[in-house]
Amino acid sequence: MIAPIRPGPLPASMQLTEDGRLRHFLTIEGLPATLLNEILERANSFLSITAQPVKKVPLLRGKTIFNLFFEPSTRTRTTFELAAKRLSADVMNMNINVSATKKGESLLDTLRNLEAMHSDMFVVRHEQSGAAQLIAQHVAPHISVINAGDGRHAHPTQAMLDVFTIRQHKGDLTALRIAIVGDILHSRVARSQIHALNTLNTGEVRVIAPKTLLPANVRNLGVHVFHSLTDGLKDVDVVIMLRLQKERMTGALLPSEHEYYRLYGLTPERLEYAHPDAIVMHPGPVNRGVEIASEVADGPQSVILEQVSNGIAVRMALMSMCLGIPSGVAA
Ligand code: CP
Repeated sequence: MIAPIRPGPLPASMQLTEDGRLRHFLTIEGLPATLLNEILERANSFLSITAQPVKKVPLLRGKTIFNLFFEPSTRTRTTFELAAKRLSADVMNMNINVSATKKGESLLDTLRNLEAMHSDMFVVRHEQSGAAQLIAQHVAPHISVINAGDGRHAHPTQAMLDVFTIRQHKGDLTALRIAIVGDILHSRVARSQIHALNTLNTGEVRVIAPKTLLPANVRNLGVHVFHSLTDGLKDVDVVIMLRLQKERMTGALLPSEHEYYRLYGLTPERLEYAHPDAIVMHPGPVNRGVEIASEVADGPQSVILEQVSNGIAVRMALMSMCLGIPSGVAA
């Protein structure tokens, strides 16, 4: 258990070195567009490695990376591991369920022990908002921390791979209408996507949800709010569907999953309200028949599995940048 902290906008010095290089990647909020573009460009340069017979470059040879996942994950944990291996780092996946944290060891004591094993990076997923930030505040100066999702706060690497996928399909963001649909209230992904899309001057960012699944003052995030799915989908170029985060819900926010699907489920008929070339995205895990119909999730407009593949290149970019690999030698 860690002491709860309320993460807000971080001072730039928390994530960047004195010369403006990325050291930790904890949140997109407050990072400049130039840096986000650098991440996307570097990820693009790593894409070709995936197509090579030997999918490896020696950029992080000799570096040791610990994946510390205190919450379940399929996509994020495995793509971080693959990304580290493709950069030739030594990567350790801590199995928290059989680690000494189960015997009462504090998070910070666990970290001290991992530091003593000459680690260079911690990739952290935790159910408490602010956990990655707290760890970053306590690690030795040579260690980088990447946030792989903390509570309801942020999932910045997911947002970067989403933006990367949007740019692959749609190019310039400034002319695009993008709708994020579903449980915005509990979604760290939505929060990070909104910060990334607005920093990169996206034409229009919409959120579509029932009132009970929207944060108070959501408009302050720089989004247009819709409560009707069909109104909100009108002419959008990108539809991002979100899962209902039942594990984070307290109280009855919805009548039933059936009722939610009736009003907010993305069916082929409803998708017709979007632009005919619109792409459909979802960070996963997908709940078919709750937020999205299988015909849409598996349909021709879906890029859901491309998002997963792109996660490897984007995480390679972030790991190499945080560990000080200069641009130009990336691939
Ligand atoms: N998108 C995402 O974070 O998926 P996982 O929970 O499987 O990592």
